Order: sequence, then structure tokens, then C-alpha cells
Amino acid sequence: MKTDIQRATELVASQLPAELYRHTVRTRDYALELAKAYGCEGRELERIELAALLHDNCKHWQAQRLMDEAKTLGYEPTELEMRVPALLHARVGAHRLQRDFGVTDGIVYSAVYCHTVGGRGMGREARIVFCADKLEPGRDYEGLEGLRARAADGLNELCLAVIASGLNYLTGKGAPIDTATLDFYNELILERSVG
Ligand SMILES: [Fe+2]
Ligand SMILES: [Fe+2]
Repeated sequence: MKTDIQRATELVASQLPAELYRHTVRTRDYALELAKAYGCEGRELERIELAALLHDNCKHWQAQRLMDEAKTLGYEPTELEMRVPALLHARVGAHRLQRDFGVTDGIVYSAVYCHTVGGRGMGREARIVFCADKLEPGRDYEGLEGLRARAADGLNELCLAVIASGLNYLTGKGAPIDTATLDFYNELILERSVG
């Protein structure tokens, strides 16, 4: 019998457009690299691989399809998601896991659900996928090298650096900020002060 990872690998290879597939593979490889550096093993590593493989499973869908699918899956878009439906690919992608990919694991669900904007209560797996998505070698933006180097300061510091870079980019463009990102930021800061 095929494992979830084998099945997911075949499904994304056959379903995703070429460039998105390449981003997916790079995100998986980078996530596994980070995970190993942070000492993840066994089931934790498998969940990270599975979530990274499936994180953008509907990123290539048009806005209307994402909105329609959110409705079908019983997900109520936020005001911001109504304005920027592309954000829905994380929520819809997570909701599709069980139905379309046979993945029922709650931690994998959370990692896919939170991969774009972050959120409250993310485990190590979700945090690693969140960072890998933004730091994989195919990305190209100012400050990226410095950001990658923050991995040496630990996963929480890496997440904070990635969030700060994202906020800087969004505020620079005058784009709205998803409150889930601020929840994530606050949680990390509070964890840091508890130490
Ligand atoms: Fe994404
Ligand atoms: Fe992605």
C-alpha cells in the first residue's frame, strides 16, 4: 500500500502546473532541511513533508473557483479573504486534504491552513512549513539571504524574522495585514519572554 507521502507526491506532480510543482518540491526540500537542523524526526518529519507537498494544492485556482470551493467546503471567508481571494488557497487547500488527498492528520491540516499568513497555536511542523515556503531557494527578494541566516537563532526567531519581513513588504505597499499574522507574531513574542 502506498504511503500518504507517496500518494501526495504523485498527486501534486500530476495536478500542479510546472512552476508551482517546482516551488512545492523546493519548499518540501527546504522544510526537511530546516526540520533536520532543528532535530525533528520520525512522524514529525513525515508530517512536515506531507504538509509541504500539499501546502499549495489549489494555489493555481482562479478566485471564483476558490470562493465556490470555500462555500462547498463550509468555510466562511473573512472580509480580507473576500477582498483578496488568493489568500483562500491555504484555507481551501487544508479543507481539501481529507476529501481529495485522503489525509486526516490534524497537524498536517494546521500546517497547510496556516502556511500563508500564520496563526495561533501552530506547532513546530506548521512553523517550519510557514518559513520554508518563504525561504525556499527559488524565492528572490531583498534581504532573503540575511533572513535564511536567522535559522541559526532557532525556529521561533526565524519565524519572527520572516513575519517582520512580510509585514515590512505589506506595509510598504499599503496592503492589508491578516490579523492571523499578528496573532502568530504575538504568540512568538510571548513565548520568547517566557523563554
Ligand atoms: Fe501558498
Ligand atoms: Fe507556497
